[in-house]
Amino acid sequence: MVSKLLNRNCLTIYVKFYVELSNKPCETMPNLSTPEQANPALELSYSRSDWQQGYLSQPQEFDYEITDITGTIPPDIKGSLFRNGPGLLDIGGEYIHHPFDGDGMITAIAFQDGLAHLKSRFVKTEGYVTEQAAGKILYRGVFGTQKQGGWLTNIFDVKLKNIANTNIIYWGGKLLALWEAALPHRLDPQTLETLGLDTLDGILQPGEAFAAHPRIVEDRRGKRLINFAISPGISSKISIYELDQQGKLLQKQTRSVPGFSFIHDFVVTENYYIFFQNPVTFNPLPFALGIRGAGECVGFDATKPTKILLIPRSPDQPLRSLSTKAGFVFHHANAWEAEGKVYVDSICYESFPDVEPNSDFREIDFASIDPGQLWRFSLDLAQNQVDRQLLESRCCEFPALNPQNAGKSYRYLYLGAAAQPAGNAPLQQILKLDLATGAKQIWNAAPKGFVGEPIFVPHPQAEQEDQGWVLSLVYDADNHRSDLVILDAQNLSNPVARLHLKHHIPYGLHGSWVEEI
Ligand code: FE2
Repeated sequence: MVSKLLNRNCLTIYVKFYVELSNKPCETMPNLSTPEQANPALELSYSRSDWQQGYLSQPQEFDYEITDITGTIPPDIKGSLFRNGPGLLDIGGEYIHHPFDGDGMITAIAFQDGLAHLKSRFVKTEGYVTEQAAGKILYRGVFGTQKQGGWLTNIFDVKLKNIANTNIIYWGGKLLALWEAALPHRLDPQTLETLGLDTLDGILQPGEAFAAHPRIVEDRRGKRLINFAISPGISSKISIYELDQQGKLLQKQTRSVPGFSFIHDFVVTENYYIFFQNPVTFNPLPFALGIRGAGECVGFDATKPTKILLIPRSPDQPLRSLSTKAGFVFHHANAWEAEGKVYVDSICYESFPDVEPNSDFREIDFASIDPGQLWRFSLDLAQNQVDRQLLESRCCEFPALNPQNAGKSYRYLYLGAAAQPAGNAPLQQILKLDLATGAKQIWNAAPKGFVGEPIFVPHPQAEQEDQGWVLSLVYDADNHRSDLVILDAQNLSNPVARLHLKHHIPYGLHGSWVEEI
């Protein structure tokens, strides 16, 4: 049981790293110099103190119509934006070690007739409720948060705190807050009240996991939600679920793959589920002994390749495994099949840094971390060969596209990107790439703005792939508040509308657009 929990814990750590690597938070100070100190000539697009303010806790919940608006909300935008992320960076004044140990807080912004209404609620997980009642940290976090009292207090404590902070989806009539190492929490779509853990009507068993990166694809089989769960170990089990629009299970298969797996995301094509098995090692001992968080027990092995696993959607077909240069992928943009090949666009880091305990994520040395960059991997299954091509060298993360193109060839990609052209830095721009022509558009929020994940909302009468809007929550350091920025996806230059919230929302993770609510 202990080893199972350890495995689950270590699985979750990846969440920690992609933010560290890419964009925002994090920790790791291998030396004590800041980027500014290490290279005084480097002109930064932001100030560290501005960036840090976006990591203050937001303990309040809100419910109001947004009336402070620059520009005009397009009346054709009808539906709700749901997003998730850590709302608390401390518990009773005790700082958590990393933002991804923070309790999930849901923000919903509903649009109708050119008006917008905001609600925010914490997911009332068992851990949130008990810790808020106690006024102190009661759980170790996967990302290094420890209970006070040193290792003797933490040794052999491997119980999970399902913090429900990574993504939120609406499927089969259920609004679900996701955290990849445990069951989803179901919420009331109107009030955001937490209804409890959800097994998807028995598809999942108590104690099982459900990843935070489901894919919704529509093809000859119909429209489906496809998601996975990983039980890592010396060999790893990958379970994949396909659900119909009512949330009923259409297909489940489980495959074993050699080696430890540290997989946060996947992609789906007409015939394959595709996973990148990053070359990492995991030593659980310091975690079990109460010395380190599970995420601080992962190491990157650059001598080993990244394995690309292609699991056929047809369960009777054998798994294929290809190799490419060592790198680390948290997020994929898209994948599709064409002319006998499979193409995968992903954000890839050259390496995965060791994560050190006793560090402060607010003092992260961005300069010491490789940037996330957009790569295209071309998989020739006949030749068992992988070619890779750099599509965008600027540090970027959170890839988004028109959801109708998921699993298919596509042209336009939207990303959060650094304002400076090289190196790792906070995300301060929304970048649109035309993958057919190489043309780029940028909306720049620097120096005082820090962008979150872009979400593409198709225009209801869209005839072109990029006809619609890009929505992103942006932290405005000038006013210590967040704005919901609406961009015309065909012309990013000036926001169509900027909705000024009455408060800030700490930097978050993922979300989704729901037309029905
Ligand atoms: Fe993610």
